[in-house]
Order: sequence, then C-alpha cells, then structure tokens
Amino acid sequence: MLQIKKFTVEELDRGCVTDNENPVFAWNYDSDRNGTTIVSQKLVIGDYEKEILSDGSYTYDGPELSSMREYSAKLIAEADNGDMAEKSISFATGKMHDPWSGQFITDGEYVFKEKKISPKVMVFRKKFATDKKVSKAVIYSTAIGMYRLDLNGSKVGEDFLTPGFTSYKTNLQYQTYDVTDMLKETNTLLATLSGGWAVGSFVFSRVNRVTADKQSFLCELHILFEDGTKEVIATDASWEVALGGPVLSADIYDGEEYDARIGEGEMSFKKASVYDLPFTTNIKAQYGLPVREHETFEAVSIRTAGDEIIYDFGQNFAGLVHLEIDGNKGEEIEVKHAEVLHPDGRLNTDFLRSAKARIRYICKDGHQEYCPSFTYMGFRYVSVKGISADRIKVTARALYSDVKDNGSFTCSNEMINRLQENIRWGAKSNFVDIPTDCPQRDERMGWTGDIALFANTAVYNYDCGRFLKKWLKDMRAEQRATGGIPNTIPSQGYGFPVTMPVIAVDFWGDASVLVPYAQYMADGDEKILIDNYEMMKKYVNACRFWAGFLSFGKRRHLWNTMSVLHFGDWVAPDVPKMSQWQKRSKWTATASLSNTSSLLSEIAGILGKSEDEALYKKVSENAADAYRKYLTDGNGKLKEEFQTAYVLPIYFGMFKGKEKANAANNLAELVKKNDYKIGTGFPGTPYILFALADNGHEDEAFNMLTNTQCPSWLYEVKMGATTIWERWDGLDENGTCPIGDDGTETMISYNHYASGAVGDFLYRRVAGIEAVTAGYKSFRIKPVIGGGITSASGKVDTPYGEIDSTWKVSGDVFSIEVHVPVGSTCQLFLPDGSSHHLENGHHTFTCKMSPRDGVSGSFVSSGDGVKGSF
Ligand code: BGC
Repeated sequence: MLQIKKFTVEELDRGCVTDNENPVFAWNYDSDRNGTTIVSQKLVIGDYEKEILSDGSYTYDGPELSSMREYSAKLIAEADNGDMAEKSISFATGKMHDPWSGQFITDGEYVFKEKKISPKVMVFRKKFATDKKVSKAVIYSTAIGMYRLDLNGSKVGEDFLTPGFTSYKTNLQYQTYDVTDMLKETNTLLATLSGGWAVGSFVFSRVNRVTADKQSFLCELHILFEDGTKEVIATDASWEVALGGPVLSADIYDGEEYDARIGEGEMSFKKASVYDLPFTTNIKAQYGLPVREHETFEAVSIRTAGDEIIYDFGQNFAGLVHLEIDGNKGEEIEVKHAEVLHPDGRLNTDFLRSAKARIRYICKDGHQEYCPSFTYMGFRYVSVKGISADRIKVTARALYSDVKDNGSFTCSNEMINRLQENIRWGAKSNFVDIPTDCPQRDERMGWTGDIALFANTAVYNYDCGRFLKKWLKDMRAEQRATGGIPNTIPSQGYGFPVTMPVIAVDFWGDASVLVPYAQYMADGDEKILIDNYEMMKKYVNACRFWAGFLSFGKRRHLWNTMSVLHFGDWVAPDVPKMSQWQKRSKWTATASLSNTSSLLSEIAGILGKSEDEALYKKVSENAADAYRKYLTDGNGKLKEEFQTAYVLPIYFGMFKGKEKANAANNLAELVKKNDYKIGTGFPGTPYILFALADNGHEDEAFNMLTNTQCPSWLYEVKMGATTIWERWDGLDENGTCPIGDDGTETMISYNHYASGAVGDFLYRRVAGIEAVTAGYKSFRIKPVIGGGITSASGKVDTPYGEIDSTWKVSGDVFSIEVHVPVGSTCQLFLPDGSSHHLENGHHTFTCKMSPRDGVSGSFVSSGDGVKGSF
C-alpha cells in the first residue's frame, strides 16, 4: 500500500502561520512493496490545483495568498501499480504585507538607567467585552523584551521566551494565537513583559538596554463575529500598564522572584504610552521553532542537607521547575539550580559565575502552583529552602525549541548508547531558540564555533531546518562589512574585544559555511546555499585577507595572524592553558581556510557559479600547500605534532599522494602513545575518528571511542555524565573539578554539545549511513565494525522517508537489514568487500565476516529490489 508519510508546509506538519508568499510544501512516501515509484502527484491548495513533476516538494507559485486566512492543502499521489494515497494539511497566512494597526506601547514614566541588571517587569492590560457570538479570534503579538500573555486568567498558547531571540534591530518575530475558545462576554487580556534578551542584562559582562531603553509591546486581536462583522483590538494609548505585578523581578541568568499574594487588584494600573521604536525592523510571523516544554522529570532522589531539600532529577538539561505548594501567606521559598553537587551533597553553583539561577517565591494561602515564565536554567539538581518537603512537590520540565527527532542510534555497547543519549541531551539543552554554548552560566549565547562543529551531528539527530535558518538570518544581518562574523549570534552586546567581529575567526566564523552546508546535506534544499552564498563568500574573502595580512609570497596562504584573536585548539586537554590553545591557531586557521574555501568552491559549483568554483578551489589548494610546506616535513610528518594538527589536514583532504597515509600513520602513533586518550580541542574532535578509521586505522579509532580513561568520551559516561562536558577533565575520579586557573575564569560547564560532535561518526561510520548526494537521493550504507560492537542500528529521516541500517555480528556472520525510502537509492557495502545497488524497499543481507582486507564471502538476499550481484 502507498502511504504519504510526511506532509509539511514551511517544514511544519501542523500549526504553520506564514508570511511567505511562496510557502514550500514537502512530503514523502512509504510503501510495503519494494521498488515502488510514483507516477503522478497533484497538490490542491484552496481552489488551485497543481500537477507536480519534481520529487516531494513544491514552492507555491499559484494565485496570490490572502493575509490572515486559513488554507487547506491536499496531496493526491499514484504509484506505478495504481495504488493511490492522499493526505491533507491546513495552514494559515499571517499579516503578510498588511500594516499593523496596533502601536508599540510602554510605561511612559518608567526610566531605567541602572547598569548590569534587568528592568522592572511591566504588565499591560486591556479589558473588553464581546457582545456578539464570536466565530474566530486570533492574536498577533510581539515585544521588545520577553512577553507572556494571559487571557481571562489563563496563559495564551504553549510558547515560552517569546518573541524569541533574534537580531532585533533587523528581525523581530511575532506570534499568532487562536484564542476563539478563550473569549468570554467580558475579557481581560494581560501581557507581562520582562527585559528578556532585548532590554535585560545579558552576556557575561551583564550589559543591558542593548536593543532599547525599556520594554514595549505590540498586539492585535482580530475578532470575527458570527454575523460576519469584524473588530480589531490593537495596542494603543487606551491600554493600561502597571509596574510591579506578581513577577517582582525576572532575568534570564538570575531567575525570577514571584509574589503570589499580588493579584490584579493589588496592582496600580495607569495609562500606557505609545512608544516610537528607536529603529525600524522587519516584523515577521514566527519563522523559527517555538520554545516549548517537553519531557517531565520527577526527582529520582530527595534528601536534606542542612536547611535545604536537595532534589536530583537524574538528568542534566535546560528547563524549568514546577512547584506545587500547600503554602501559608507570606512564606518565602527559595529554589536554586546546579549541574553538579559538592562532595558533601550540597549544590555546587561555583561555575555559574554571575548567574544566580535562583527562584524566590512568596506564597499566598492554600494550594498553589508555579512555574517561572521569563528565564530558564541548566540543571540536574535543585535545592529548596523555606518549606518542609511534605508541603511542596517539585517536578521539572525540559524547555527547548520544538525540534523533531530526525534519527536514532543504538548499539550493543551500553556506554556508547549513554554517550548518544548525552549527545542528544546536549543538543536539546542548547537548542533554546538559538544554538547556544551552554544553558546554565552567564553565557547561554549563540557561540558560532560550537554549532559550526556540532552541525553534522545535530542534523542527524534532529530536524533543524527552521531552527538553523532562523539563526542564519541573524548571522547575515550581523555580518560586518569587512566579512567578519561576530563570535556570538545574535551578538546582543557581546563585543569584546572590540575588533573581533571585524576580524575573521577560524572555525567560529566558519559557521557561516559549515552550518548551511550541513543542513543542505541533510535536506538537499539548495535555498539555504542560495540565501547564504554572499555571506559565505564575504567571510571566506575576509579569511583570505587576514591570512595574508602582513605576510608575503606563499606565506600569505598560511593563516598565522594574531593568535590572541582566535580560539585555536579550544579546550584541547593536552595543554592546560587557554593561551596554548590559542597559539595553535596557525594550524587550525590554515586548515579552516582550506576547508571553507573548498566547500565554497563545491557550493559555487552546485549553484552554477563556475568562476567562483575555480577561484575558491585554488584558494583551498594554496592554503593546503602552505600547511604542508611550512608545518610539515613535506612527507606527512608535522614539525610540531599534536592530534588536531594531523586530524584537520587528513580529514579535509589537504595532503597529496602518500603524505595522507603517512600522516594518518603518524596520527595513529600519536594516539597510541597517548593511550588512545583524546587530545583534540573543538576543531579536531568531530573529525578525529574519521581521520583514523578512513585511513586504515579503524582499530585505533575504536580504541579511542571505547576508551574510559580521562580524557575520553566514555570517561564522562563512566563518571555518570548525562550530557556532554565542556572540558574533557571537568571532574576527576573523586568527582571534584580539578581545573585551576587556566586563563578562562572558571569556564566549566557540564552541558556543552561541542565535543558530542562524535555523534556524526556513530551515524556515518558505525551505522554507516552517509548521503552521497545532498538530501539522500542517493546514499551509501557502509558500516565500520570494531571496538567489540556486535550490533548497531541507525535510522535517519530524510526528505524521501526513513533510512534504516540495522546490523549484527554473530560469530563470523554479519547480517544487516536496510530500508531504502521511495525515490532514493542506496549503495550497500558489506564487510566481505561486496557492494550492492538497492532501490526502495526492505532488504536483508548476510555474509561472512572477513579480515579488513575485504576478502569476499557469501550472502543471501531477501530484498526484491536488489540490483547488484555478487
Ligand atoms: C563558550 C564556548 C565558546 C568559547 C569561545 C566560551 O565561553 O562557552 O563554548 O565557543 O567561549 O571562546
């Protein structure tokens, strides 16, 4: 039977509200019949019908869509054997080009001048009556600041941290909420606004008022009555505002203070003032993913330590506590958050730096429930003070952007399975509206380098399309005229040292190339390359300029300028000081230039820009030649050896002829001498296992992967980690942090996804699933077997449907089950050295294991669609 499995509008399978005049529809199929092909597809959108010839996507080019309307779309498809399938989806348009009738409003009297703190919370109010029957009521709203809406005493929608974190002076999202069922005859709409990222204190220097000097709110409630008439209730000077509602204070890092005794009656409202935004920005319907609550955690242990109750949720994550309290009026409860405990069982908050990560809650009488709205924390443990354990129930919920699962990986090694879980939790904890470095201390910033290196792993695990595209839009907005990319996007006040964004910073700025490329490989949509091409080109040109700055001849291709402005081999565990990581930028920057320019050349080729293709190929070769000439003996041996310095040129294909094999041998030797412990910082970590395994050193790669000595991936697992650590040696065997003054000012987080970039190897080599053409129209499955792993299973959702590679080894027999989605093809490579061309369907193969030299064996296939022979 033919089935339409996925059907999306603008990458969403429900709830899409878009301002895009040409929304993109996408779908894929499933069939229980091998070799299924699609012979016809028709899309019906409203009254418009379109025959679709291409693969499963269509960019709307029908009659102009109207604003603020609901549409439905139906896809009808036929398979080669006459099977039919159909599926429908509905979506809505936003305000599109309609001007806002609402105006931004604020508290005109409030003057906020204090430094380093967040502003007072503002509450806006509108009371209104609806004396006719309502057929539909929709709110369109946004803010400078962070807002929460309550209509008639209930929270509107499920989103948190709205309007989201963007480069506000260029891009601002508005949200859309259908409130038809919430309206009564008399209504009160409340909007509570904290400073959020825009006005509140942010980045570790705790700057505030970066976007505007105080909060402001914009809203329109469109009501359609059953009699066909319409009314718009829009923000204007008729709204009221109060400072000092129940939210006494709110700050992203510090947390929230809440007084449950304060109701509307206790607040003194006055007239709101219309506010002229001091800049013009593009206000668009939310195009990122909403931040919502997901998994719920009950405490796995509750203990007392002094006057505190300590809750352990068994998992480190980004989220919020939910409190259920039997309280007495005026009782004060304090909740603190931490990722780790001190050996004496108290919360260890030493590494949160200036972030207070604290909730203060003042009770009213009776049963009450509370969850903060204007902050989030990175934590596994909380301490509660001021109430006895029998009068409070504490649960916690994970908060992150609504990314959907895109893949899974499991294998016979339980520690690696835990590593994979930790990688996924690292991603979820740091996908809070933007890709952040960490969710707990006074950063939570959009550090470019972290996602640049994690992007390949991210897109295997999660469908990151909307999430990353939203962020890249801000990167384009913030790229400097010189081509430099700020180290954090949105930079939102982070400008130290001032010259940084002007200078190109290797690997961190590389996010402008690596992130779009990773997403393109996952979904095959060239648009992300088109949209970001000029940014990539400007960035790579900046890299070339800085590489050549004050150097001459061939040396200008060796990027060796001002290591103090680079991050080099960031957090490499084999050298203890920050300055030593940075000094390695000569190697990392030159390799980065060779890699980004090579990718840019490939992208130029895809987009048909042949001059650029040739130009950047040459740039890449020049950088590679300079690396070989100045940093190696010309025969694959580094003059100064360290793991990352071998990994990058090997993985990026910078060596010539035999040099590559020599370099891989030297790397293997180095790794062996280091007892298979990891020695790479951020740049080398994603690629080291590939550099070994793809060059005849599979055993060394697996020895590293399965090593449990510090530093290694599984050492963290052995120490009970539930996420990925920022520092390989974040805890010693006694469970205390051994890191002293290394120049980074207590830069120790237990929830940084960067070194979880090894996840790419689990999918691409252990499960063996790798795209040959972008979007997996053709892909290969080539499991690499080793490390005592006797079975593995990888599944990846692609634009064509789910790919499955599930294999096991029993004795000397290898067997594998493969699923190839409709519309794609697979080349399967078995460990006996044979390879098979597969088309859509489910296939099973068995063969004899053979030594790594690929001696052929025998196999049986039950796959109807098998084309290859043996
Ligand atoms: C962040 C990193 C980031 C780095 C760059 C740190 O403080 O947490 O992950 O990439 O700074 O310097």
